[in-house]
Amino acid sequence: MSNKANILVVDDEPNIRRGLAKGLAREAEHVDTAENANEALESISHRNYQLIIADVRLPGDMSGLELTSEVLKRNPGTAVIVITAHGTLETAVDAMRRGAFDFIIKPVDLELIRQQVRKALAHQSLKAENRELKTRLADAGEIAGMIGKCAAMQDVFRQVRQVAQTDATVLIHGESGTGKELIARALHDLSPRKEASFVPVNLGALPETLLESELFGHEKGSFTGAARMKPGCFERASRGTLFLDEVTEMPPKSQVDLLRVLETGQFNRIGGEALLTTDARLVSATNKDILELIEDGTFREDLYYRLYIVPIKLPALRERRDDIPLLIEHYMRHFCHRHNRPKKQFSSDAIQTLSLANWPGNIRQLRNLIERIVVTVPDEIVKVEHLPNDLAPRTKERPNQLTTLAEAAEVAEQEVIKLALSANDCHRGATAKALGISVRTLHYKMNRYGLH
Ligand SMILES: Nc1ncnc2c1ncn2[C@@H]1O[C@H](COP(=O)(O)OP(=O)(O)OP(=O)(O)O)[C@@H](O)[C@H]1O
Ligand SMILES: [Mg+2]
Repeated sequence: MSNKANILVVDDEPNIRRGLAKGLAREAEHVDTAENANEALESISHRNYQLIIADVRLPGDMSGLELTSEVLKRNPGTAVIVITAHGTLETAVDAMRRGAFDFIIKPVDLELIRQQVRKALAHQSLKAENRELKTRLADAGEIAGMIGKCAAMQDVFRQVRQVAQTDATVLIHGESGTGKELIARALHDLSPRKEASFVPVNLGALPETLLESELFGHEKGSFTGAARMKPGCFERASRGTLFLDEVTEMPPKSQVDLLRVLETGQFNRIGGEALLTTDARLVSATNKDILELIEDGTFREDLYYRLYIVPIKLPALRERRDDIPLLIEHYMRHFCHRHNRPKKQFSSDAIQTLSLANWPGNIRQLRNLIERIVVTVPDEIVKVEHLPNDLAPRTKERPNQLTTLAEAAEVAEQEVIKLALSANDCHRGATAKALGISVRTLHYKMNRYGLH
């Protein structure tokens, strides 16, 4: 990155200009020089400089301090390093207050300057990256605080806005942690029903008898322990939205009950005579492949067709890797604020590693990791070393592509061989034995995969 940078050296001493231009040539794409502030401003209007090194004392009507302010006013992303003479440290401090990145004390030590320049450029490019993220965050067409710039999520948001206006029954598909509950809430919040209740019920968490009472309510004394009349979810969601989470986990008997309500719009509380009518809007969610469950006979096909009027499919996080940096930034801010920590930045390497990870737990997993990092990493810059080392995907080069079975098997084989080698201290005989293959085969495979 640093070899793309442009540097401008502003000093009235030709020796310093020449020395720095030569000494920094390798750090930058261009190193230009200027003799005074006006010349510097002239150069700035022609070329974009990531770094400006300026003497505090400049001839003419503008000092290096004023130049610093002017440069940062025109382009706040620029890193400015000021050069100051011994005994004039106050001016250096003044420059820092005006927003300079660092200062150098004369006589100029080239090696030291190189280090400072590298540091400034690294910092500067991180800042630029963050700024870009912020603008991307700002115009991401999100709903309900959900992040999603990728086409698939934009599509989901569009669908949500559209169907929220209707009473159509929605079935949300998606792996665990992809945001199904958030989408269900958004469907409610964006709907004309938003003033009434959003009632979530997890159908996987309750045994059959309790589930029935949870959904339909019960009359006082209808069973042991029913000391009071209790309205069920259908009643509580009246004029609102009923969210049936993990709908495929419902026991068979409850599936029949639910089907009846969906067909007739009517139900009674347990132990009750009166037929009650529901007008709750239904949203359900599952992380299973329902069609498979129907084939297995564990989920009723007729119920499926009642629930599956409008399907909304949430992509897995690894299918929308471009959104990962946005989510990192979002949750980093969120948790720094919540835990009262100073703001952190992720190095580009760390962002890249996170972007390539597999994320079986999707956004929930990413969110939990960012929270852990915010709480446990003391450094301001989060680096790859701070990340757990089980994040790496198996196929680094093609994390998001379908492979043939043979290719997948090779990747797995390679991993297993590596593991076995390290478990057996690279002893080939023991490794081959552990793997159940001959030493010759092991050699062959190691050559093939370049494992030495
Ligand atoms: N698009 C998004 N932007 C930001 N945060 C999100 C997004 N989607 C989900 N999250 C967050 O990820 C976490 C998991 O979301 P949610 O509970 O909605 O997932 P789920 O699909 O219902 O998961 P499960 O199947 O495990 O119940 C929550 O903390 C949620 O706030
Ligand atoms: Mg959920």
